[in-house]
Parts: sequence; structure tokens; C-alpha cells
Amino acid sequence: PTIYAITPTYKRSVQKADLTRMSHTLLHVANLHWIVVEDSETKTSLVSRLLNKTGLNYTHFNVHITEKLNSRGSGQRNLALKWLRDTFRLNDSNAGVVYFADDDNTYSLELFDEMRNTKKVSVWPVAFVGGLRLESCKVNALGKVSGWDAKFAPTRPFAIDMAGFAVSLQLILSKPDVYFRLHGIPSGHQETRFLEDLVTLSDLEPKAANCTEVLVWHTRTTSPSIDGKYGDPNIET
Ligand code: UGA
Ligand code: MN
Repeated sequence: PTIYAITPTYKRSVQKADLTRMSHTLLHVANLHWIVVEDSETKTSLVSRLLNKTGLNYTHFNVHITEKLNSRGSGQRNLALKWLRDTFRLNDSNAGVVYFADDDNTYSLELFDEMRNTKKVSVWPVAFVGGLRLESCKVNALGKVSGWDAKFAPTRPFAIDMAGFAVSLQLILSKPDVYFRLHGIPSGHQETRFLEDLVTLSDLEPKAANCTEVLVWHTRTTSPSIDGKYGDPNIET
């Protein structure tokens, strides 16, 4: 199966550094298609050039939603979901997996091996999220997900970060109306509401040794303090 990694991205001082690091991870992953969606009025030359140089298989989009939303990146993710549904038919033999991979996280290569054979939705722990060392899935003796080890809104039906799950392309195609909801959802609930529309708890496939290993870290790049009086402004950073 091909992995479709959907990455929203937006202009900021560390954007190129984050995208460079992420692209170097993805270069080690076989059969991966990177869908990069800029949060901007137009495709920027910084991202266009960077993608072109990577040698990765990619598709580059942009969409800018002017209103302030509770869910960063989800307008961008929705555009990528629409493209997948417009591009692939349910009966296509080419199997795929969809992963929402933000541009600032840290991904181990094993993570991509783990998610590749997702039947419906696979899940695994994510480090440094929700105010915890790790937020995790609880797995019972039968190897099924029974709940969540989370502190933030622990009664969410799927108490999991965007980086903690992958969805089969077949499931995305078979539920064509499921998108991230941009309105009426409290901050931190977009993942659960999306998954609630797709599966039930018993459908989940725990990965990363029954959710006992961390293969992705919710790192966030510090925004550097910059003295704009120095440094050639013609040099791209
Ligand atoms: C957490 C989750 O890990 C995100 O998946 C979730 O979208 C976000 O909270 C949320 O609920 O708003 P966090 O690190 O706080 O993540 O969010 P960012 O990494 O700043 O943003 C998530 C993604 O959206 C990133 O890929 C980022 O580049 C992109 N983004 C962010 C935009 O496209 N536009 C923005 O204005 C901000
Ligand atoms: Mn982030």
C-alpha cells in the first residue's frame, strides 16, 4: 500500500527548517506520496522549490481560510481528503493509507512500517502531547483497544492526537462525506470527531507493540527571537 502523508504547512520563521527535516525523514520511506497543503492565498516559491528539490513523490496545494478556527490545519487536510476522493475510486486495486503528518513532529521510520497495512484505522502512542510524556491507547488481553491513557478531555471517544492514527484509503473513500469539521468543535476535539464519523473503538488496530512503544513525538519548533536589522533579507531562511 502507498502511504499518503497529508501535511498542512504555513509561513513562519522555522517553516523551511521544519519542512527540510521532515522531507529528509520521508526520503527514507518507500512508496510514499506527500500531499503538502499550504495555508496561503497562493503556492509560495519557498515551498515549491523545496518540494521540487526533494525528489519525493508529492502533490502541492494551497488553501487559505480567513476566519480564525479552533482547528489548525484542518481546512488544509480537508482539501487533501477531497483530492484523494476525486482521484481514487473505491474499487481501485491500489491500496493506500492516509496519515495526517504535521510539519513539526518527529517521525521514526518504523512508524511508517507499522501503519502501512492498516485495514480501517490503526492507532499508537504519541509523546509530548496533552500535557503528558505520552498519550496512549490502552490495549486489553485480547489485543483490542479498550480506552485511552489521556489527561486532556479523557472522555473523548478517541482521545488521540492527529499524529496517533492512520486511516485506510478504502475507508476514506467509502465514507465520502467525512471531513474535519471546521465549526462548532472545541479545540482539541477535531481528531475524535473525525474518527467518531469513521469507526467504533472495536475497529481500531493497535500498533507499536500494542501501544507500548513511542514512534512519533509531538515536538514543536521554538520560534527564534530575531533581530531583523541584521542578516541579508535576500537570503532565504
Ligand atoms: C495540535 C495537533 O497535533 C494538531 O494536529 C492540531 O491540528 C492542532 O493541535 C489543533 O488542534 O489546532 P499543534 O502543534 O498545536 O498541534 O499545532 P501546529 O503544529 O501548530 O499546527 C498543526 C498543523 O497545521 C501543522 O502542520 C501546521 O504547519 C499547520 N498550520 C498551523 C497551518 O496550516 N496553519 C496555521 O495557521 C497553523
Ligand atoms: Mn505541531
